[in-house]
Amino acid sequence: MADTYLVTGGLGCLGAWTLHILQRAGKRALSFDLSDNRQRLDLLMSPDEQADITFVQGDLTDARQIRSVFEQHAVTHVIHLAALQVPFCRADPPLGAAVNVVGTVNLFEAARQTQLSHLTMASSVAVYGPPELYGPGLLPADAPVAPRTLYGVYKVANELTAQVYWQEYALSSTVLRPYTVYGLGRDQGLTSDPTRAMAAAARGENFHIHFGGAMQFHFAADVARQFVLAAEQPSGGALACNLGGPVVSVAEVARLIMALRPGVQVTCAETTLPFPAGCDGDALHRHADVVYATPLTEGIAATIAAFS
Ligand SMILES: NC(=O)c1ccc[n+]([C@@H]2O[C@H](COP(=O)([O-])OP(=O)(O)OC[C@H]3O[C@@H](n4cnc5c(N)ncnc54)[C@H](O)[C@@H]3O)[C@@H](O)[C@H]2O)c1
Repeated sequence: MADTYLVTGGLGCLGAWTLHILQRAGKRALSFDLSDNRQRLDLLMSPDEQADITFVQGDLTDARQIRSVFEQHAVTHVIHLAALQVPFCRADPPLGAAVNVVGTVNLFEAARQTQLSHLTMASSVAVYGPPELYGPGLLPADAPVAPRTLYGVYKVANELTAQVYWQEYALSSTVLRPYTVYGLGRDQGLTSDPTRAMAAAARGENFHIHFGGAMQFHFAADVARQFVLAAEQPSGGALACNLGGPVVSVAEVARLIMALRPGVQVTCAETTLPFPAGCDGDALHRHADVVYATPLTEGIAATIAAFS
């Protein structure tokens, strides 16, 4: 039997990119998502390419359903991306906790019960607190967590869940903590404005990004590739890694977009987000054979061209 890669949240931004990368590599991909809306996948894959993927519409909060997906499809690799992002957790905290925390426990349980030895999942830099809590420089992966959003609290719970599944059941995991992901399909969540600005620029329209400050930007294709690799390389523990990369101001991203589409105005607010400016990717570099890092100028140009 060929390996089967389960991608939870397969119809979200990173999920769609991950399915795209798996399909292109000739790997068998299984999408599990609450939604059946393929609009993000349609941006990346033709209907013929999508025909190679198995789609299951389901709810991660349903433990029995997720367990039966593991069994019926003989899942061998897990890339857990389904979650409610910051604004959705803020709007409905109990639902956020049900999907992000209980859903993640359901996934670990199904993996354990079906004797999987490893999985990968998305956490976030939102596990950390605002920059004033920390010293200067990039934060190491093991810097103290101090989330200022419920979303961040739920991600901390997931990371601790991963540690317990390693200690008690030897189910290893690699947790990746992206900062601001950009690229086709990034249309919701607190940090989706830079991608919306790229889409607006492609249409010849002005855009105002509702936050400022400095942060790390990751091209969605790179993050998806990193998740596929993380699913394939057992970590020998409960490994949590930041993705690293250059710290860039939002104003600089606006400038890069304007340089690619002269005549378009992209502005940004001064409000900063309650996360550190940057985190080092040292743990990931130590563990992963490859760290995918498309230069920002290249990623922005590719995204605007694709939107065009
Ligand atoms: N996009 C970023 O910048 C970023 C940054 C840090 C961390 N992350 C994390 O990466 C992961 C993927 O992010 P994304 O940008 O692709 O998010 P997204 O919001 O685009 O996609 C999330 C997907 O999860 C699905 N989902 C929601 N509830 C579900 C449920 N109960 N059962 C099954 N599926 C459900 C949604 O339908 C959606 O397709 C998330 O865990 C997110 O927290 C993203």
